[in-house]
Amino acid sequence: MEEWATSHTDSGVDIARAQWRNRRHIAMISMEQRPGGLPVTEAPLRPHKDLPDFYARREGRTEFVTRLFDGTARYYDRISAALSFGTCRVYRKMALRRAGLEPKMRMLDVATGTGLVAQAALDLGLSPDRVTGVDPSRGMLEENRKARSIQLVQGRGESLPFPDSSFDFVSMGYALRHVEDLGMLFRELHRVLKPGGRVLVLEIVRPESRLVFAIAKFYLNRLLPAVARLVTGNREAGQLLKFYWATIAECVPPQSILSALAGSGFAQVERRKMGSVLSDYFALKD
Ligand SMILES: C[S@@+](CC[C@H](N)C(=O)[O-])C[C@H]1O[C@@H](n2cnc3c(N)ncnc32)[C@H](O)[C@@H]1O
Repeated sequence: MEEWATSHTDSGVDIARAQWRNRRHIAMISMEQRPGGLPVTEAPLRPHKDLPDFYARREGRTEFVTRLFDGTARYYDRISAALSFGTCRVYRKMALRRAGLEPKMRMLDVATGTGLVAQAALDLGLSPDRVTGVDPSRGMLEENRKARSIQLVQGRGESLPFPDSSFDFVSMGYALRHVEDLGMLFRELHRVLKPGGRVLVLEIVRPESRLVFAIAKFYLNRLLPAVARLVTGNREAGQLLKFYWATIAECVPPQSILSALAGSGFAQVERRKMGSVLSDYFALKD
């Protein structure tokens, strides 16, 4: 049985909070038998190593990430525009079109944040009732709600509050580095897609060239955080950018992401590179 409810935040913003009861727990798909007979789960594939400059203990990471996005939500669109030299909206739209998003599809935007990917889908002709966004950060969801009227659900990519085979298209923009386990995430994306459905994951990758790496590090880790702090007067805006850079520099290589997608049941797994820092991962559910 599925059940959905709507809750109201303090600011009066409606956020649909999904409560899907009796859902199948699919997180522990990969089981193997130990010689002693006890089942063990596959080790999680973390997107990056621990970053003690930002959170003291691994268990504190999820809370740190959500707090960081909550605290910087109202500056996020400006930060994103500065990061991408103003191309963030056009790029998301182009990537969705190239991945085959069509107006008749039902789409889930995982890690929807303030809604830049969801907005790109609306700009491509999807009606708001065909687009659902999910994100753990209430602050980001509230910013999203101010700008458009799609369904917004508070939740994590690793445990999506939706029934199996619900969507034709699933997107995830620049958030893969923030999940706890890539295997768990991709199995969830696969589960909620209908057969024949598509997934598009947009990500920034660590530049291979030493020169580009040095330039990107200076821009993201030094220049932009200083400018962001100055312009917003918010210390966390600078910290968000520094954390962004640290997760890019330490992120698992693209090959691990491709293998994790294939290992989660996806077919036709592809990576499309744009310049030396952008990668779009694309795959199909058979
Ligand atoms: C850099 S923002 C990207 C927002 C949007 N997708 C875009 O393209 O601009 C990263 C988002 O990931 C969300 N996030 C963090 N951990 C997550 C998780 N485990 N599952 C889903 N979203 C997560 C954050 O709250 C934040 O809104």
